[in-house]
Amino acid sequence: MREYMSVTMPGERKITWIAEKNEGDLERGEPVLGHASILLLGDIGVVEVFVHPELRRQGVATQLMRAVVGRAHAEGFAALGAEVPGDTDAMRFYTRLGFTKAFTEIRSVLDLSTVNWYSLGQLADGVGAGYSLHFFPDSPPEELIEAYAAAKAEVQDVDLGDLDLRPSSFEPDRLRASLECLHARGLRPYIVVAVHDASGTVAGLTEVVVPAQRPTRADQYDTIVVPRHRGYGVGRAIKARMLFELRSAVPGLTQVQTWNAAVNEPLLKVNAELGFVPDREWLEYEADVPDLARTLGIA
Ligand SMILES: CC(C)(COP(=O)(O)OP(=O)(O)OC[C@H]1O[C@@H](n2cnc3c(N)ncnc32)[C@H](O)[C@@H]1OP(=O)(O)O)[C@@H](O)C(=O)NCCC(=O)NCCS
Repeated sequence: MREYMSVTMPGERKITWIAEKNEGDLERGEPVLGHASILLLGDIGVVEVFVHPELRRQGVATQLMRAVVGRAHAEGFAALGAEVPGDTDAMRFYTRLGFTKAFTEIRSVLDLSTVNWYSLGQLADGVGAGYSLHFFPDSPPEELIEAYAAAKAEVQDVDLGDLDLRPSSFEPDRLRASLECLHARGLRPYIVVAVHDASGTVAGLTEVVVPAQRPTRADQYDTIVVPRHRGYGVGRAIKARMLFELRSAVPGLTQVQTWNAAVNEPLLKVNAELGFVPDREWLEYEADVPDLARTLGIA
């Protein structure tokens, strides 16, 4: 967990606070009350806060937020964001502090034991002529990195929301750094790429990450189909092919989870065909730092 919690991309910083009952509990191996962290990117910070289930509603998280906001305020950060599972205590906690909803995503989960592998095979093969699919554990090969980053750059303009807490890597160097960062955090990426044979460009890509800390559940990261290659079955085929590859590459895997903008109907449709079941909203909250500082009585 140490690397998972502390390693960041170049240019980003992460600061973590621990709430202890007695000073030195952490060093003595005693349980802590909770912890909070802030990932600083650009002029915004992404907050996470966790409190031991038996110690909630006693103001521990509020106390941790005082430290977080105090630091963000002192460093001149304009806004804080948080990614919050819908209909949970965390939602009520952030709302109470004055955070407002900037963006809603839907989380869907695919239970691999429910997959009809025969039908999935048809989806994986159902791609137009002129595209070839390739599977790469860990990273696209060096000769594909530029084309891969270019495909990401092409869809970068698509504005999905007000707030982007998970910036995508659309320059080759940043892409390499982001892959290294994933590995360093114990997150192993698996990639399927659709190459447009005539031009040698990347028409589509899909990325799934398996955390060493919880290897039974994978996270679907970006799935991209470059606009001029849409309508040829590329999106469906790369996602289906990925599931086949994961079945062999990560035999212990039981679930894949994915997040999509509530407005992204084409992807939600592909996910439904693959057997993903929507389970809950996932909300991006934001608040201005000076407002938070006032609410928490530290400005
Ligand atoms: C969200 C969480 C951090 C809150 O921790 P906490 O120490 O219980 O929070 P506080 O005691 O400081 O609560 C402050 C206020 O938030 C609101 N709040 C917190 N939990 C609430 C709940 N279960 N129901 C309703 N309101 C709640 C209340 O207004 C509360 O003030 P009050 O107790 O005087 O009414 C905790 O529930 C948690 O760890 N959840 C799981 C992890 C998580 O989802 N983290 C967010 C991911 S970024």
